[in-house]
Amino acid sequence: MTNPLIFTIPLIAIPILYWVYTYPKNKYKQTNLVLYVHDYHTGDDKSVITVAGKDGPTTSILHFGTLLATDNPVTLGLDPGSNEVGRAQGMYINSQLDGKAVFMTFSIVFTDGEYKGSTLEIQGADRFLVKEREFSVVSGTGYFRFVRGYGIMTTEFLDLQNLRALLKFNITVRHY
Ligand SMILES: *[C@@H]1O[C@H](CO)[C@@H](O)[C@H](O)[C@H]1NC(C)=O
Repeated sequence: MTNPLIFTIPLIAIPILYWVYTYPKNKYKQTNLVLYVHDYHTGDDKSVITVAGKDGPTTSILHFGTLLATDNPVTLGLDPGSNEVGRAQGMYINSQLDGKAVFMTFSIVFTDGEYKGSTLEIQGADRFLVKEREFSVVSGTGYFRFVRGYGIMTTEFLDLQNLRALLKFNITVRHY
């Protein structure tokens, strides 16, 4: 005589097998990029301008409320002469009452190299006197569709007098 319990085995096994096969795997890809953003507020190669501020367009970025437009060169190497792969296009707004932080929101528009034609959307607080600050990567296009991630920003070079800076962006994103 067959043990009636044997008929319950498929009832248990089938859901378990179903769960094993459909359990979400790590389907995402992870990409790490190290980019250098050249942030030049003065000079012939100036790439940031002040749009508005408490004293109009002459207001320093170091004052709360100053709004700037950026079209900064992005390179793979630290050297300003190194191959440009894109532009950081968007804005900064000084968003801390004591003037020591800006809110940044811009697209990294890749114009050359591996990611040419794609963009990454960067957003976050830049407390620029802090050695390492973390920002968000909120989205992207092309190769970077559906991305999200984060980046760590460090100031590699700063000429505070002339407001010329070289920023390292170490970005980690996950996408499909
Ligand atoms: C980039 O950041 C990651 C952590 O997110 C770290 O492991 C890696 O060493 C950093 N790379 C560089 C070149 O700084």
